[in-house]
Amino acid sequence: MKPIESRKDLKEYYFDKELVDSYIDERFKHPLGRILHETQVTVINESIQTYGVQDVLELAPGPGRVSLDVTGFQQGVMVDSSDNMLELAKKRLSTSANYDKWSFQLSDIFDFTTEQTFHLVYSYRFIRHLEHTKRMKMYATIHSFLKEEGLFIFDAVNFDVSSPIRQANPAVFPVYDKLYKREELINELQENGFDVLKLYSVQCRFLVQRFLNKFIKFKLDPLVYFLIRLLENEDSENPLEWVVVCRKR
Ligand SMILES: C[S@@+](CC[C@H](N)C(=O)[O-])C[C@H]1O[C@@H](n2cnc3c(N)ncnc32)[C@H](O)[C@@H]1O
Repeated sequence: MKPIESRKDLKEYYFDKELVDSYIDERFKHPLGRILHETQVTVINESIQTYGVQDVLELAPGPGRVSLDVTGFQQGVMVDSSDNMLELAKKRLSTSANYDKWSFQLSDIFDFTTEQTFHLVYSYRFIRHLEHTKRMKMYATIHSFLKEEGLFIFDAVNFDVSSPIRQANPAVFPVYDKLYKREELINELQENGFDVLKLYSVQCRFLVQRFLNKFIKFKLDPLVYFLIRLLENEDSENPLEWVVVCRKR
């Protein structure tokens, strides 16, 4: 089956209540997913601290997986087109100390407008699902949402590692992902008005780490976590994914 690629199908895919309710447990509870989550959050929190970020815009937060752990900002806006996702985000964040800092906006991002500009726009697991024309449009929109020299953080998938895995198991990837060569990614951002400050490598020895992750069935989670973590190195040459930190030019 062809992976989901259109803007309409992508939106509708995430309306499903069952998918929404199982989203975090299925993808981020096991050690491999937890480590990915931790790196994504750490990069945002360190950037907020280093660059004195006050206001943040999160695009496509889903159930608030990342927002729940983001700290150090003064004011935040999150925009998602799925009411089920946004309701779950609100519920999960309701007990957080940062709840009052967030404004929750139900909207298609391509239709979202605001007078406000932000020090930081971030989005995980969304930009990568957009095909070329939509991605270009989204970069222009993000550029317009940012203050001068504002930061943009997102995730990108490495062609060299991911492509063979996808070819072997196409059914595991129901949604389209753009896969990049490192230089192609840097150039695409340059051409769209962003300078890449750093690419943080994540899931650096993916095939070994995925194998280790299988041992959770023997209730070895702490050991598996420890071993997978040992194999992480933010400067690794050939990871499964990068967390991209770039700045508006
Ligand atoms: C894979 S989830 C990512 C959730 C979260 N960012 C994360 O990393 O866990 C993708 C999210 O994008 C949202 N989405 C898809 N198309 C959208 C659009 N056009 N406008 C706003 N949100 C959209 C979906 O509702 C869903 O919550």
